Amino acid sequence: MVISRLERIWLYIGGGILAVFLAVLLLDAVVEGASPPSSMQTIDPSTVLSSGQFAKPGVFQNGPHSSMVHVAAFTFGFLPSDIRVPVGNKVTFMVASRDVVHGFEIVNTDVNLMVIPGYISQATHTFNHKGKYLILCNEYCGAGHHTMYASLTVY
Ligand code: CUA
Repeated sequence: MVISRLERIWLYIGGGILAVFLAVLLLDAVVEGASPPSSMQTIDPSTVLSSGQFAKPGVFQNGPHSSMVHVAAFTFGFLPSDIRVPVGNKVTFMVASRDVVHGFEIVNTDVNLMVIPGYISQATHTFNHKGKYLILCNEYCGAGHHTMYASLTVY
């Protein structure tokens, strides 16, 4: 097979770009510790609101500067719909859906979870500034998807 010089150059360029992308991914994973959101914990969607940690969703202080928030997602809302956490707290969000796939995005932060029924999605963020944040469902989940939001107040 004969490959012309120009074709060979383009093959090297394509292969080079691929190698750069893979290197960036690897650096991100190894040096920055980036990993996909945890989906290791499972939960029966039909019991999300009736038993276990999501039956009484809310904010729990689990250390002097850290708290845990249990959020139940459902068509079309979040429980609690108004989350309040102290400023400077390292906050771990645990989110579970009782029906379909939802999103859990805290606008202007790096918290952006896909909430898949059967799994507990988790993300941690430290809030260093007081203010109000908007939490949106960013996965289309039905006719009321656009009404699915909550608010987060850092006080
Ligand atoms: Cu829930 Cu869109």
